[in-house]
Amino acid sequence: MNTDLINEIKTIFIEKFKTAPFLIFSPGRINIIGEHTDYNDGFVFPAAIDKGIVAAIQKSNSDLCSIFAFDKNETYKFSLENIQPLSNGGWRSYILGVVSEIQKKGINLEPFNIVFGGDIPGGAGLSSSAALENSVVFGLNELFNLGLTKTEMIFISQKAEHNYVGVNCGIMDQYASMFGQENKALLLDCRTIEAIPFEIDFKDYELLLINTNVKHSLADSAYNNRRAVCENVASLLNVKALRDATEEGLLAIKDQISEEDYQKALFVVQENNRALAASEAMAANDIEKLGELVFNSHNGLQHQYKVSCDELDFLVELAKDCDDVVGSRMMGGGFGGCTINIIKRGKSDAFFEKVAPLYKTRFNKECTPYSVNISEGTHIIS
Ligand code: GLA
Repeated sequence: MNTDLINEIKTIFIEKFKTAPFLIFSPGRINIIGEHTDYNDGFVFPAAIDKGIVAAIQKSNSDLCSIFAFDKNETYKFSLENIQPLSNGGWRSYILGVVSEIQKKGINLEPFNIVFGGDIPGGAGLSSSAALENSVVFGLNELFNLGLTKTEMIFISQKAEHNYVGVNCGIMDQYASMFGQENKALLLDCRTIEAIPFEIDFKDYELLLINTNVKHSLADSAYNNRRAVCENVASLLNVKALRDATEEGLLAIKDQISEEDYQKALFVVQENNRALAASEAMAANDIEKLGELVFNSHNGLQHQYKVSCDELDFLVELAKDCDDVVGSRMMGGGFGGCTINIIKRGKSDAFFEKVAPLYKTRFNKECTPYSVNISEGTHIIS
């Protein structure tokens, strides 16, 4: 955890509000494999990281809530009466959404103040949004003794995103951020919301993230469109969700849907199987097999599900050309953000040094490496 950031957020809170706050850390996440499967009731394989959001929170003695976003240097004040979604609210929508979803449960909140800041960039595919939502719901739960369970809290965060941000996201990001465990990836069944933790031990390999610095925006319609396609195909198949579909079943209705929609649904069925196969490879310590699945995942995201972009594809192609990298793919919702690479231990710097100038020449912008540690989920900083 970033102690400088924690101290900074705490100091600003005390300066502004003259009282000591609770401090919450809520992490971002990576996802090893299982992309766009969560809202199909399928399997994902995420882990919480040691970067995320630090939030300071305490009761307010005014009638208004006051929120200070440190990274943006912006303040937003609002009353708890009659909260409504904002158009183009940016970070404000996450806060209002969480508050509103808590109120919808019949819970009566009192005014509060928050200062928050983070050390993961927005739009990098590392779920800074889920980290923010979870920090707020977790903080309010502590502050007012609401008695919400972690599972109730992640659904509040998810609904905030649906109803206030406009992204019909699945549950992976909120789950990974809230329930993350040190050094463990979580094979999450998004239907039962139960996960099996797997010790992350890549032996001779390590993980390297490379940010394209292309900021994705899932709020545009592409994400929601994909979800709608999946739900439509599932209903044609007469199944609850594509998690219940098979490649044979899809073939049988192929002539009732467009080729594009067929490929998207096929991707989901295959990606779901890949997530399960990846957990078996991890259990068997077969990192080469895991890497192959990861490359195949990217291939499907690029050509079938069509959520990649040139910058991500370029980085994955370079990874394929490098003998030290056994697997590479885009991570998260897509259209930008990071690639995740499984690379021979100690070779990350050399690979990045090779990639960075080629990327710069091709796109006239920088890419950025990230090393992350797999860490514990949302918690109070004592
Ligand atoms: C975003 C969403 C998640 C998930 C991923 C794609 O991160 O928030 O719910 O759908 O995209 O796997």
